[in-house]
Amino acid sequence: MSKILRLSVLGAGTVGGGVLTLLRENADLLQAQTGKRFEVRHVLVRDLQKPRAAVPDPKRLTADPQRAICDPRVDVVLELMGGLEPARTLIRDALQAGKHVITANKLVMAVSGDELIRLAHRQGVRLLYEASVAGSLPILNALQGSLAGNRITRVVGIVNSTTNFILREMERAVESDEPAETAYDAALHKAQENGYAEADPSSDVEGYDAQYKTAILARLAFLQYVPLESIYREGITHLSGRDLLWAKRLNMGLKLLSISERLPDGRLCARVHPTLIPRECPLYVVRGAFSGVWLQGNGFQEMSLHGFGAGARATASAVIGDLIEIARHPKPLKIEDPSLRTGETAPIESLTMRYFLRLVAPDEDALRALREPLQLLGAEFQPSEPLAQGVEQVALTPPLNEGEFQTRIARLRTEATVQVIRLL
Ligand SMILES: NC(=O)c1ccc[n+]([C@@H]2O[C@H](COP(=O)([O-])OP(=O)(O)OC[C@H]3O[C@@H](n4cnc5c(N)ncnc54)[C@H](OP(=O)(O)O)[C@@H]3O)[C@@H](O)[C@H]2O)c1
Repeated sequence: MSKILRLSVLGAGTVGGGVLTLLRENADLLQAQTGKRFEVRHVLVRDLQKPRAAVPDPKRLTADPQRAICDPRVDVVLELMGGLEPARTLIRDALQAGKHVITANKLVMAVSGDELIRLAHRQGVRLLYEASVAGSLPILNALQGSLAGNRITRVVGIVNSTTNFILREMERAVESDEPAETAYDAALHKAQENGYAEADPSSDVEGYDAQYKTAILARLAFLQYVPLESIYREGITHLSGRDLLWAKRLNMGLKLLSISERLPDGRLCARVHPTLIPRECPLYVVRGAFSGVWLQGNGFQEMSLHGFGAGARATASAVIGDLIEIARHPKPLKIEDPSLRTGETAPIESLTMRYFLRLVAPDEDALRALREPLQLLGAEFQPSEPLAQGVEQVALTPPLNEGEFQTRIARLRTEATVQVIRLL
């Protein structure tokens, strides 16, 4: 590779704009770190007329993907467009053309990462994707680098900062005595107004985004291919301000967590769902539009990272880190990526956990009938409370098997509203 590294940047939106800005602002630093100058040859966009302050030279803009991919002088293609297609096909084309690729695209890496990693290996080029999980946090590089000599036993993360922002807003609303019933809608609206949530927020609030990131994170942590469909997913749309209120009363935090762990029988279990965590958990302090990852391994014991999980500059920081890595080490290792090995996964029903239950029934008699089967399971109840409509009672269970517990709860749900939240 020459002293100049030539780049095609696909996308000049939030992340692409951030990358172009940091490339310009830190040009001297990047040269000092790598001995190379970075030259942007093409910037691919849809709309050539849109004003773009971050693009250094408007002549570099193109709406023709082939121009950006096939230019023989380009060394590295940075895919910062998002979505499955045409991003996946362009990554494939770039690898086939012998270019190194950097992507921030968790959807492509979760759905087709295995195929693309194999292709990059065959082509003798590098495919890096640090920005696809938890924005600026260098978690994927840590797992493949400094922590690679550990057997990882558990990875717990707040990997979707939009939902973390919404949950924090709901918490704030109940702390200020705003109505608990409307807390979710009000918080989502605020997230959309602040640019944290999209007009169609389903990928974030239904847990899909966190599921994609979990597939990537778990694969690298446990060196095992993790099919997306093996990851249990539950979003935050069913949560109420009352759940946040109870979390506070019980001295806990309520977060949408990504949890992957190696079970004693060797199977891997990965899941995404709202989770109550104790104050002592390092992720308790990860609030608002932040991300955090807490890891356990047999050498380092435990470690947590916490920082901006999204945004132009924070995400660009991870993309540029990958660029520096390619400038320094353009040749991939000759061994096949160990994270592509197949291994057994376990469904969430195999786990044993504690649960928070919030029962809402029309009256005390109806509540009593609900309590009895739960008392047999060892659940401990808080005093009941009248609501505007009906009566509410909260309970915490001892550790129970998920599969058996959910079967019992399904029966109770025919008689009353039963909110169930898992404990870490
Ligand atoms: N935003 C974040 O904080 C963040 C954090 C971590 C990872 N990511 C990931 O980074 C990627 C980019 O996200 P973003 O927020 O920067 O998206 P964005 O603001 O919507 O920008 C997308 C850019 O790609 C261009 N583009 C999209 N489809 C195209 C097509 N078919 N042909 C040509 N150009 C196309 C758009 O062109 P126009 O400008 O002409 O529309 C735009 O410049 C996604 O994979 C996302 O998941 C984002």
